Amino acid sequence: MKQRVLFIGPPGAGKGTQAERLCAGRGLVHLSTGDLLRAEVAAATDLGKTAESIMARGELVSDALVLAIVRNRLEQQAGAGGKGWLLDGFPRTVNQANALDTLLLELSQQIELVVLMELDDALLIQRLMSRGRADDNADVIQHRLEVYREQTAPLAAYYRERQLLQSVEAEGPVDEVAARIEALLD
Ligand code: AP5
Repeated sequence: MKQRVLFIGPPGAGKGTQAERLCAGRGLVHLSTGDLLRAEVAAATDLGKTAESIMARGELVSDALVLAIVRNRLEQQAGAGGKGWLLDGFPRTVNQANALDTLLLELSQQIELVVLMELDDALLIQRLMSRGRADDNADVIQHRLEVYREQTAPLAAYYRERQLLQSVEAEGPVDEVAARIEALLD
């Protein structure tokens, strides 16, 4: 069973929903950079204060800041002899992907699978508008989609070249999407 997994895909594709479910079922640690950043914002830490307005605009927080968070969590996890992890929403730029490769080399770990969740823009927008998180309004959603296309979509080629990428159709009921993903992990 694959135990070091990345979820990439546009906002609203269902990365968080599927990651939570998969990690609960398989004992993997779920590391969502979006959730970790929102926790920093809620706790009003220095990091959270820096991130808050960037997230509200739908732009990406600096690579350095996000990398510090991920490094900390993966080192903790490696130190505790943890079973495995699923990174949700990270990496999001080719620079982050390069930095993750370097970090994993230091930890003697390897990515085993990258799942790209794909869904039409109209459905992404529909899902996000009905959720209503602070960054789920029409203008910010459009901007998040542009940022995704410009900065994150190139990761598909990055991981395809490394023969790690598998695409999953993210349309349909949560259970059906979950079954498609489960089949890739076994
Ligand atoms: P992040 O929290 O990662 O948000 P995102 O990528 O925009 O993704 P979402 O959480 O909106 O969508 P999702 O794909 O997880 O879908 P979900 O399961 O929630 O990032 C937020 C911000 O943080 C970024 O904009 C950036 O500022 C910053 N950030 C985070 N990581 C960063 C990084 N690495 N570098 C720099 N900045 C970073 O589902 C969405 C909705 O759809 C839910 O209501 C859900 O219930 C519903 N749904 C899910 N699946 C289905 C289904 N099959 N059918 C119907 N509804 C469904």
